[in-house]
Order: sequence, then C-alpha cells, then structure tokens
Amino acid sequence: MAGLISQDLLDEILNKIDIVEVVTGYIPLKRAGRNFRALCPFHQEKTPSFMVSPDRQIYHCFGCSSGGNAFNFLMKYERLEFPEAVEVLAKKAGVRLPEEKQDSHAASINQQIYKVLELAELFYRNSLNSVSASAVKGYLLKRNINEEAARLFRLGFAPDNWDALINALRSKGISLSLMEKAGLIISKSGGGYYDRFRNRVIFPILDVKSRVIAFGARVLPGSAAGVNDSQAKYVNSPETPIYTKGRNLYNLNNALKAIRELDFAVIVEGYLDCILPYQQGLHNIVASLGTALTNDQVKLLKRYTDNVVMVYDGDAAGEIAAVRSLDIFVEEGVSVKVVALPAGHDPDSFVRKNGIGHFQQLIQAGSNLFDYKLRILRSRYNAGQIEGKALIAQEMLVTINKFNNAILKFDYIKRLSEELDVKEEALRLELGKIKDYRPAAAGSPPAAGKAVNINPTEKLLIKLMLEEASVGNRLKDYLEPADFQDERTTKIVSIMFDLLAQGKKVNSGTLINHLEPHQDLSAVISGLSLLPDTCGEDREKVIDDCVCRLKKQRLKTKRDFLQREIKNAQNIKDDELLRRLMQEFHCITKNFEQLYSVKNKATDRGEDK
Ligand code: CTP
Ligand code: MN
Repeated sequence: MAGLISQDLLDEILNKIDIVEVVTGYIPLKRAGRNFRALCPFHQEKTPSFMVSPDRQIYHCFGCSSGGNAFNFLMKYERLEFPEAVEVLAKKAGVRLPEEKQDSHAASINQQIYKVLELAELFYRNSLNSVSASAVKGYLLKRNINEEAARLFRLGFAPDNWDALINALRSKGISLSLMEKAGLIISKSGGGYYDRFRNRVIFPILDVKSRVIAFGARVLPGSAAGVNDSQAKYVNSPETPIYTKGRNLYNLNNALKAIRELDFAVIVEGYLDCILPYQQGLHNIVASLGTALTNDQVKLLKRYTDNVVMVYDGDAAGEIAAVRSLDIFVEEGVSVKVVALPAGHDPDSFVRKNGIGHFQQLIQAGSNLFDYKLRILRSRYNAGQIEGKALIAQEMLVTINKFNNAILKFDYIKRLSEELDVKEEALRLELGKIKDYRPAAAGSPPAAGKAVNINPTEKLLIKLMLEEASVGNRLKDYLEPADFQDERTTKIVSIMFDLLAQGKKVNSGTLINHLEPHQDLSAVISGLSLLPDTCGEDREKVIDDCVCRLKKQRLKTKRDFLQREIKNAQNIKDDELLRRLMQEFHCITKNFEQLYSVKNKATDRGEDK
C-alpha cells in the first residue's frame, strides 16, 4: 500500500510520467507559451484559468486555487485517496510497488480484527437463516425489509445465548483476546467472557471498501428485559483499533456511486431510516448512526459531493440535532438543505406510511440552511420584541460567521437584516464580536482556496528557494521555519529545510510529493511556482530584504505578545513574572533596533510599520 511507499519511489513515479499526458486523459489542453491551459474542471468558469506546467510538472487553477502534482490532480478529479492515486500512476509509469508489509505489528493486528469481524458477520448472517430465527425474519418482514435488502445490508441475528459467537469463533481457532479486541465479547468480572450481542438483529457497519468494521444490534420487540443492556434499543460495538465512532457513515459503500452521479447525499439518522428508502430506490442515502454528526463524517462525504440534504425526525430532539449540525456543514464548506419530517415520523416510518415518492418530494423541497435555522429560532423566540430579535440575531450570526466566503457572509447579513428589521451595521458589529472558538486541530489544513492570504514576503522567499537550490541551502542557516508566521508556510519551509539537509534536490514537483499528508499545501506551491520568475540581478537584494522583513515580523509579534503579558502581570501584581517579562522585552527591543538600523543602512526603504 502507498502508505509504506518511500519518497524516492514516489519521485520515481512522477519522473516517469508526464502531467500533461495525465491531464489530457481527462480534459483537452491548449498550449499557451511554455504552459498548457484549459477550462478548470474543478469550478465553473468561462475563461480558462487552469494551467499545466510541463517544466514544473504541476497544475494550478488561478480561479479556484486548486493545484498540485499529478497525484493531486488524479485524487481531485477521480476522487481517489492518495494510495489509490499512487497505484494508478505507478501502473502507468511501470513502477512496481512493494507488497503491503505484513510484519508491522499494528497493521497485522488490524488485519486480524478485520478477519474476525468478517467471520462474526458470517456467523450472524447464517444464524438469521437458521430455523430458530424465524421470529426475527418475521420481524424484518414486518418492518418491510425485503430479502434482497437484507442480503445487501448483510443483516444478521445474534442468537439468544451467552456464548454462541464465542463457540463459533473458537471452533475456527480465534483467540478470546482477539475477539475482545474486535469488540465482540465482554469479560466477566469473575473471569471468562460472554457475547456482547445476544438475541438481537445485527446491522454490520461497513467502511467505504465494504469491510466490516463494527456492528449495531437492535433489540427484538417483546424480548426479556431486565438483564444489563437488554433494554437498550441498540447496542453497538465499542471503539476498536479499526473503528472510531463518528468517523464512518452507514451505507456509504453502497451509496457512493449514486452520490457521485447525483452529486448530492441524503443523510438520515438510523439504520432502518437508511435501509428502507434505499430498498425503494433512493440510493444516495447514508446514516450518521444516531451520534451528532461530526466534522469527520462531513469530510468523508465531501470526497464525493459538496451537497447534502439532512433529514431529521419531526421531534424536538431532531430539531436540536439539525440546528447543531448545520454549523458543521458550513465549516466544511458543504452546502446543506434541511428536511424536517412531520411530528412523530422518522424516515423509515414516513416512507412506510407515505411511500418513497412523497419522501423524494420532501427532499427536493428541502429548506436552505438560513431559512431553516431562522424558522426554528422564530419559533423559539419572539421576533416581535427587541430581546427576541437580539437572541435570534446572535444565533444566526454564529452560523453566518462560519462562512469562509465574505460575499456569502455579507449576503446573509443583508438577508438577516431584512428578516429581522435590524440595521446591517448593527449585525456586522455583533458579528465582529463573535470569537470563533473552534480549535484549529494541530496540523489541520486551513479551509479551501485561501492560498491568496499568505504573506507575500513568505511566498516570495519560498518561490526563490524553489527556483534555485543554492538559495534554500544558504537560507536554511539564516532562517528557521518559525520565522514564517503562517502555519502553512512554516510547514512547507520546515519540510524544504529537512530535504535540503538530507542533500536532496528540492523543486516544486518533489516538494509537493513530500506534502502529501498536507494536501492543501500543494496548491500553495503550485500557485507560486507558476508566478513569473524573479529576474537575476535583483535577486540577492530581494532575498536580503525578505529575510530582514521576516525577522522583524517575528520579533514584532513576540514583542506584542510580551507587551500583553506584561499588562497581565501588572494587573495580577506578579512582580517576579513582571521582572522576567521586562527583561525579555528589553532584549527583544534591542534585537529589533539592531535589525532596523542594519536594514536602514543596507537599503533606503525601512518599511516596517
Ligand atoms: N442509536 C444507537 N444507540 C441507541 C439509540 C440509537 O446507536 N441506544 C442509533 C441507531 O443507529 C439508530 C439511530 O440512533 O438507528 C436512531 O435512533 P432511534 O430513532 O431511537 O431508532 P430507530 O432507528 O428509529 O430504530 P427503530 O425504527 O428500529 O425504532
Ligand atoms: Mn425508526
């Protein structure tokens, strides 16, 4: 698998293929000077801003800021994961990939867990077809699940027995410890184990590759209550090395083809809410499985579409869940519509009562997020009174604030102002007060399309280093990655310096290769490597200027930080802390002045603000 492939091999693949040829396989390219040009396949446009550079072996769209090397193109165009893109291009390049290593301990444990889950799934499925399960089959029929759907969703039955699965797996030579790791059995306090799922309908949870990764198990109506978990409607697998809750979507494996084709996905909550509509022909449907929808789930879906219709139960819990999940879609840049079902219904009961056609109609007529949230808030607060308006505005602004796009933000502000009859300026003022507390997960890529915002000095320096290896080699002794203040450029530079330190040749193509775990950074590189080259004569001075500016920028940030800390220390009257901070502050100020005077002597433009 590509996760184990060395950088050298990736470079070899890239060296053996031509990005122009790869891209031409999908869209027609026209020559434009040294580069090729086309209408961008990743966004709507009338004049071509999508460029492919044969020299640098990269593509970049100046319209939507997507870009990268041939791997990135394939991933984006064919919606492949990195290892899949590597496989495709390796084949094209005639490069043999190493077989997946089985000796890595973690990998082999995971493989064993997949294996054991597959065996368990088979056991449950066979149990459903045994004579003793006729009551369960009756139940499935009562819920309108036909045999074909039961097969497709691999439904099963866990017998009413404490050790039916244990015995079945044991006879196949599976160890108890592996069964436990797979989440299938539970250890008794007095020693020994028992089956986690008993006398329940089994819903296997599969990943995109249709591997079983967990189970959900529903109680049968009228089954004996009273012992431990037997009342819980659903018992689910615990988290295991291969299963993390909130990272998967039920039925995505079956639905992805339709999701791609229709370019939207329907999200429901429960197993049966998903199975019944699917069985009736609505194939682009997945379930979040009861948990509040997570960013990970939306990211997963985003690989196949940017459009989602959420269907919620027509009750208070459904409404709360809907309102909460809206912000997640906005954060992930997915456009969302909401369908609230009539009170007391979930998709399963609605489809059973009213038919799939009616359900489809509701989906077509879903409200957009803004209207939906506003409607809910209007029903909660009194929009006729100023206090009510303030509360509604407050909650709407939290969502509006999450839009990355300023145009959308302002448009929504305008609409909100009209809806509530409140001045736009007032809303904007309030919007400014909202702090986005969403913690930026370490190393998480910034949202799409913002390579633009990178400080020009930092961009220019990276470009200069990419143009000429000697520049990078020289600068790595002067600069640290942390001198770059943007999370993205810091990462890029630290990878560049690492490569240079290993004596590697660094150009746009290879660098992008090494940025694989940070997909969004590839576009930064492809974008700046297509900017015109800096001319030779000025180069040295430009470099000096840039370095100086970065150093100053960093000192300034640090000085500002210290200034704030000093104020704090004064407020809390911590004299010892204050003394240390002041010392540091003086030290920085001195550095700062030195740098300033050197710079002013060296050039005439001391343009620090
Ligand atoms: N769920 C769960 N654990 C629970 C309750 C619910 O995992 N204790 C998940 C299941 O995926 C379930 C979904 O949340 O399908 C929705 O829950 P609920 O509406 O209570 O169940 P339904 O799917 O409607 O189940 P049914 O129609 O069989 O009653
Ligand atoms: Mn239900």
